[in-house]
Amino acid sequence: MSYKGQFRVWRGDIDGGGLEDFEVEVNEGEVVLDIIHRLQATQAPDLAVRWNCKAGKCGSCSAEINGRPRLLCMTRMSVFTESETITVTPMRTFPVIRDLVTDVSFNYTKAREIPSFTPPEGLKPGEYRMQQVDVERSQEFRKCIECFLCQNTCHVVRDHEENKESFAGPRYLMRVAELEMHPLDVADRRDQAQEEHGLGLCNITKCCTDVCPEHIHITDNALIPMKERVADRKYDPIVWLGNKLFRR
Ligand code: SF4
Ligand code: F3S
Ligand code: FES
Repeated sequence: MSYKGQFRVWRGDIDGGGLEDFEVEVNEGEVVLDIIHRLQATQAPDLAVRWNCKAGKCGSCSAEINGRPRLLCMTRMSVFTESETITVTPMRTFPVIRDLVTDVSFNYTKAREIPSFTPPEGLKPGEYRMQQVDVERSQEFRKCIECFLCQNTCHVVRDHEENKESFAGPRYLMRVAELEMHPLDVADRRDQAQEEHGLGLCNITKCCTDVCPEHIHITDNALIPMKERVADRKYDPIVWLGNKLFRR
């Protein structure tokens, strides 16, 4: 069973662009990425789109469908009605390279700013021993496919370009939380999370969690516990006294 679907796709580059209308065949069982591929094959051979696995695992095909950040390869056509016009636009938070492809290097910059795993001194690779129970909390965060949909969605940077420098975004604040919860990581990341990675800018709106294709509880399981750890440190009476005495 097939029908002619109505699509509106953003075309352009860093200098500007706009929405173009297309009518494309839709077949049963297809996802939006199938339609984009058919569009390339039949009407717009130079349409730029980034994709790789078509299985929701590489995190490449992130875009916005009817304004909602989603993976193109995991959005079934069956969630839309046949008469609906489906609008596909690039992620809004990152600069456009061309058509549906954005420059996501902001995320790589933020990833590099987080100090890596720091094992106890003297412990060599191969000597790490952990109990499953100790890694259970942070294991969820390892499901991340780095699609950057959460980074694209968070209003702290989505509507405020000026915050990009001081805010690592939910994906990388979650990375800080993952390391902070790691049983063998000895670095104390709490001050840095607040002062350098912008944890305080997150006001727990949970939009990041809403769009995560891996259904990671970013806000509840990473960001809020991280905020609690920062608050514990800040309001710990001994730390407070130490700061008063030695950091004047
Ligand atoms: Fe994508 Fe979820 Fe990872 Fe964010 S946390 S980059 S939304 S998989
Ligand atoms: Fe942004 Fe998620 Fe916090 S959307 S404000 S990082 S809860
Ligand atoms: Fe890999 Fe969509 S193509 S997640």
